[in-house]
Amino acid sequence: MNPTGYWRLCCPSEGLMEDRLQEFDLGEKRICLLRRAGRVLAFSANCPHAGGRLCEGWIDARGRVVCPVHHYRFDPANGYNASGEGYKLKTFPAKDVEGSIFVFF
Ligand code: FES
Repeated sequence: MNPTGYWRLCCPSEGLMEDRLQEFDLGEKRICLLRRAGRVLAFSANCPHAGGRLCEGWIDARGRVVCPVHHYRFDPANGYNASGEGYKLKTFPAKDVEGSIFVFF
C-alpha cells in the first residue's frame, strides 16, 4: 500500500451495480470497480497484458474478470492472473461508507 495515498471519493453507493464492471476517472488514475457478494473491489481500468479496457470485459462463473482483448482472467480481489500468463492486475483498497464508495491510492 502506498503510505502517501489517501481515500478518494469515487461515486455514490447506489451507482455501483452488483456484478457489473464500471470505470471511473479519478484524476490521475482510471479505476474499474466491481460490487460482488457484498464486497467492493477496485483495480486498474487497463489490463496489464496490453492495456485492454477491463470494464468492456465480463465476469466469469468463478468471479474472475475476463479481459475483452485476449481473454486473460484476473481475480479482482488480489490481481492474480488466474489464466496463468504471469501478469498481475493492480488492485486498490475500496470501501462503501455511509452511501459513498471510496478508493485508496
Ligand atoms: S490486453 Fe488484456 S489479455 Fe491482452
